[in-house]
Amino acid sequence: MAHQKLQISDDTTTHLQRFSVQFEFPVCFTENLFDPHNPTLIDALCRLEPEKQHKAVIFLDDGLSRARPDLILAIKSYAAHHARRIDLVADPVLVPGGEKIKSELHFVEQMQQTLYDHRIDRHSYAIAIGGGAVLDAVGLVAATTHRGVRHVRIPTTVLSQNDSGVGVKNGVNLYGAKNYIGTFAPPFAVLNDLAFIMDLGERDKIAGMAEAVKVALIRDGVFFDWLEQNAERLAVFEKSAMATMIRRCAELHMRQIGHGGDPFEFGSARPLDYGHWSAHKLEILTRYHVRHGEAVAIGIALDARYSVLSGLLEAGQEDRICFLLEFLGFKLWHPSLESRNQEGELAILKGLQDFREHLGGELTITLLSGIGVGVEVNEMRDDLVAQSINWLKTRQQH
Ligand SMILES: NC(=O)c1ccc[n+]([C@@H]2O[C@H](COP(=O)([O-])OP(=O)(O)OC[C@H]3O[C@@H](n4cnc5c(N)ncnc54)[C@H](O)[C@@H]3O)[C@@H](O)[C@H]2O)c1
Ligand SMILES: [Zn+2]
Repeated sequence: MAHQKLQISDDTTTHLQRFSVQFEFPVCFTENLFDPHNPTLIDALCRLEPEKQHKAVIFLDDGLSRARPDLILAIKSYAAHHARRIDLVADPVLVPGGEKIKSELHFVEQMQQTLYDHRIDRHSYAIAIGGGAVLDAVGLVAATTHRGVRHVRIPTTVLSQNDSGVGVKNGVNLYGAKNYIGTFAPPFAVLNDLAFIMDLGERDKIAGMAEAVKVALIRDGVFFDWLEQNAERLAVFEKSAMATMIRRCAELHMRQIGHGGDPFEFGSARPLDYGHWSAHKLEILTRYHVRHGEAVAIGIALDARYSVLSGLLEAGQEDRICFLLEFLGFKLWHPSLESRNQEGELAILKGLQDFREHLGGELTITLLSGIGVGVEVNEMRDDLVAQSINWLKTRQQH
C-alpha cells in the first residue's frame, strides 16, 4: 500500500506516506587492488551495467600517495588496461589526508567543482582512496553532488577498513564540532586492500585496532578472547592476524548496520559508539593531535572503569581490557583528560552533552556489563567520571 488515509474531516485529510528503500553494496577484501588482473574494482563498478563504460573521478589521500609514490601510475595503468569499462576522466586528484580535509569546508567545494568540471552524473563514480577522513569528506561530496553520485570507498587505514569504511555515514567538521555536516549515504561498494595497511605508519596501524577492541567488548566476547590470544601477533602487525582482526571487526559493524534495526540512527542510541563520548571530546581538546583510534582506546578504558564503579562490570575486567590495549601499543592517558573549563569543571564532561546533542533525544551511552556485552544507560555521574579519570592517571604512573 503506497499510503494510508488516516483521518478525514471537512477541511483536513491526512495521508500517511510510507515506503522503504533497500540498500545493497558489496564489501570486498582483497590484495593488490590495482593489479590489472585483479577484477575486484572493475567488477564492482560494472555490477549494475556490465557492458557500459563508466565515468569515474578518483580522489586520493596525499598521505597515502607519499607512502606509495608508485600508486598514481598503478591506478592509471589499471584504468588503461580496463579502458573499455572505465573512463578515468582525470588523473587521480590528490586531497589532504587526515583531519585537515574535514576541517576546512573549501576542500569539499573544490571536490564538488572537480565533479562538476568532469560532468560526473548520478551513474558515474566518485571514488575515494584513503583514510577515514578522506572517505568521510568524499562521501559527503558524493552524497550531495546531484543529490547523490555513486561513491566507491577504498579504505587504506586499519580504522577505515575495519570500521568507518563499511559504515553508512559521512561528514566534515564545522564550528569546532566534529562531523557537524554530513549525511547517511550507503556507498556503492567498499573495497579493502590489505596491502595498503602494510604501508601505514606504526601509529596508525595501532590506532585502528581500538575499534576492534571496542566492537568485541560490546558485541562478541569470543572475538575479545581471540584478540587477547593473538595480541603478540597483532602488536607486531603480523599480516594474517591483521587480516583476521580487520575482517571480523568489519563483519560485526556490518551486522549492526544491516540487522541492528536503526542504520540511520533515528533513535537515541549509538550502539557502536562505546567509548566514543569522551573520545570525540578528547580529539577536539587536543586539536586532533590525538588520533581518533588513540582517543577511542582511552575512551574504552575510561568507560570500562566507569562500568566497574557503577556496579555494572565485575571488578578486574577493566584491568584486563586496559592490559590488552596497552599490549597492542596504546597509551591510556592524556593530560587533556584533566583540563578544566572556565567554570572549573572537567572539560571532557561536555563530551556527554555534545554526544546527546549530536543525536537529539535522551542521552544514551553504552557501557559494559561483561566482556562482549554492551548495556545502555541514560545517565553518567560526574563524580564517577572524575574517579575513572583519576584511576587512569594513577595507573599510568606505575
Ligand atoms: N563515518 C564514520 O562512520 C566514521 C567512523 C569512525 C571514524 N570516522 C572518521 O575517520 C577519521 C579517522 O580515520 P583514520 O583513522 O583512517 O585516519 P585518517 O584518515 O586521519 O588518516 C591518518 C593518516 O594516514 C594517512 N594514510 C592513509 N592511508 C595510508 C596508508 N595506507 N599508508 C600511509 N599513510 C596513509 C593519511 O594521509 C593521514 O595522514 C576521523 O575523522 C573519524 O571521525 C568516521
Ligand atoms: Zn570510532
